[in-house]
Amino acid sequence: MSKIPSSTSQWVLESSTGSSDLTLKQDIPLPPIGRHDVLVKIHAVALNSRDNQILHNTYLWGSTPGVVPLSDGAGLVIAVGEAVTRFTTGSRVAATFHRGWLSGKLSSIAQVSQIGAHSDGLLRQYIVFHEDELVAIPSNCSFVQASTLPCAALTAWNALFCGSVSLKPGDVVLAQGSGGVSLFTIQFSKAAGATVIATTGQLGGERERYLRQLGATTVLSYKDADWGKKVKAATGGRGVDFIVEVSGAADQCAAALRLGGQIAVVGGVGGPGGSVFDMRNILGELRRVVVGSREQFEDMNRAIEANDIQPVIDETVWAFEQAKEAFEYAQSGKTMGKVVIRLEDYERH
Ligand SMILES: NC(=O)c1ccc[n+]([C@@H]2O[C@H](COP(=O)([O-])OP(=O)(O)OC[C@H]3O[C@@H](n4cnc5c(N)ncnc54)[C@H](OP(=O)(O)O)[C@@H]3O)[C@@H](O)[C@H]2O)c1
Repeated sequence: MSKIPSSTSQWVLESSTGSSDLTLKQDIPLPPIGRHDVLVKIHAVALNSRDNQILHNTYLWGSTPGVVPLSDGAGLVIAVGEAVTRFTTGSRVAATFHRGWLSGKLSSIAQVSQIGAHSDGLLRQYIVFHEDELVAIPSNCSFVQASTLPCAALTAWNALFCGSVSLKPGDVVLAQGSGGVSLFTIQFSKAAGATVIATTGQLGGERERYLRQLGATTVLSYKDADWGKKVKAATGGRGVDFIVEVSGAADQCAAALRLGGQIAVVGGVGGPGGSVFDMRNILGELRRVVVGSREQFEDMNRAIEANDIQPVIDETVWAFEQAKEAFEYAQSGKTMGKVVIRLEDYERH
């Protein structure tokens, strides 16, 4: 049994003006492992759109200066406190995005307890968590794959399966663009027996081919002025049952939705010019989705295992020392799949 580390290397975000604000710190002491705590060796971490928003001070929920970035990662439990019951040494785990949101509705306290924004995140070698803040990762996923699940995947899962009505076989889902949330939306929808219509800004190339390979039966361009109508036409005029809305395209969504369909309002990758939802135009349900609870995370992981869903990873996986480059690459528009940093073999040198 190797020695339990007493310190960690970690990246911190001193302020929020860009990747030059990221600093690698060494020999940061780890807190003692309390009775209900576990010590995790991080093997891989993944970036979300949100992490670059934090880096550039445009994140809706703000962040704490000096925070260790990134909510998403997966690792190995290497020590446990004497009262821990959920995990043992050797468990493969990921952390929940909101500290303390175990089940039910999101509380206002949990909402401002996001790791990687308000409390320290996973861009570090080791971290101590309360056992309640972790879930077991799916057995069919590597650490690299599982590192992508806490935010993007869980948001897609929540959007499709946790509203007043759940997705069912035969439903039609609209996924927008080929970002992290949308790729998981396609994969979960296909696993549930639904049909997927996808959009992309790069129609006719590698990206469209990839979206089709993943399961989209129709791929349209969100650069078309009336793509919402085209989506509806692609359903024979009925409209889609579910929209996982990541872009800020309210008018187009209203045009694409079927009577009684559901729009999960998730994000705004389309930029500040996005339109605002006018309920008078929506003959269905509008629902704000904010990641998900630990219970939803565990439900999702069972589905990932049962359906052998393989998260899509970008072909370039970065080293721990390359965190700045990884942040820049993640917002380059060149990615296809989740951007991951691998730390498994990182040793301080
Ligand atoms: N509410 C929540 O809990 C929650 C959770 C996760 C994410 N979010 C938000 O959801 C959004 C997506 O996050 P993400 O991590 O999936 O982003 P991401 O991976 O950074 O998404 C990048 C992709 O967005 C697509 N895109 C760009 N402009 C678009 C437009 N006008 N319409 C449709 N797609 C467009 C592009 O697809 P193509 O290359 O194919 O054109 C691009 O590849 C972000 O705004 C994020 O902050 C919210």
